[in-house]
Amino acid sequence: MNYRHVFHAGNFADALKHTALCELLRLLTAKDKKLFVLDTHAGTGGYDLASDRAARTGEAEAGIARLVAAAKPDAPAAVTRYLAAVAAYDRKFGAHAGPPRRYPGSPRLIRAALRPQDRFVACEKHPADAQALKREFAGDLKVEVRSADGYHALKADLPPPERRALVLIDPPFEATDEFERLARALKHGLRRFAIGCYAVWYPIKDTAAVEAFVASVASPKMLRLELQVPETAAGKLAACGLLVVNPPWQFEEAMSAALPWIAGVLGGTASVVAPPAGAHSTAPARAPAA
Ligand SMILES: C[S@@+](CC[C@H](N)C(=O)[O-])C[C@H]1O[C@@H](n2cnc3c(N)ncnc32)[C@H](O)[C@@H]1O
Repeated sequence: MNYRHVFHAGNFADALKHTALCELLRLLTAKDKKLFVLDTHAGTGGYDLASDRAARTGEAEAGIARLVAAAKPDAPAAVTRYLAAVAAYDRKFGAHAGPPRRYPGSPRLIRAALRPQDRFVACEKHPADAQALKREFAGDLKVEVRSADGYHALKADLPPPERRALVLIDPPFEATDEFERLARALKHGLRRFAIGCYAVWYPIKDTAAVEAFVASVASPKMLRLELQVPETAAGKLAACGLLVVNPPWQFEEAMSAALPWIAGVLGGTASVVAPPAGAHSTAPARAPAA
């Protein structure tokens, strides 16, 4: 396990995933009913963008820093909410002007959205990152951090007693068979708990593997969000997606406004597509914003 998210924190892929995550959390906590949140591949929780490892790649500079600099009052509401969540985390480490110095990972964004009635389990398999995640939430009884394989939690924790769940599956794609593992895990999850909301991140490098994965998901209600940015170096990731199974009402609308704006600022393109059951359309949702 060589992947460490600190090298990529706040990049374009996080912008897509975390804007969507913030919206899912907002919409799923709109009702009083309890929500169970499972983050299967959690990372360390928060990231120091000034650290050597983050600064070495400069990915946050090309991602979150550009979005913050471009933010205007008329930016799409979902973008404004995502940037506010990032700023709230960053501010905990001291007020300052300019781009964020600290960036919240998915567990921090989830924690910020939890209400007293909600429950949160975060799994991280890398021993050092799992320890860092435990330190991040030390003494916080609302967060159950597990130093464990997140794929197992899809079997162990579903269906949840709450009967409502958001499951984020965000693997590092180091293993050559990650798409197959992902497809199997999602299948198990859906078999155990068909009405849960699942958000699954994937890189777009091998488009045939992406299409095979999406086609393997047997759910009538899905939304496919994709973001492509200009390639900065050969072999460096420049496109990714998030497949959301059972998205809540109004999620598509919010993301159809947010993603083209993000793509426009980052000089890329985006699409938000609801594949009809059993057939997957690839038509772009809208032209990217200028
Ligand atoms: C892309 S990063 C997670 C980023 C995080 N979800 C966020 O948005 O801030 C993927 C993480 O999964 C961890 N990991 C790899 N395989 C795992 C597994 N089978 N179960 C749990 N964690 C795993 C890696 O160590 C890495 O920290």
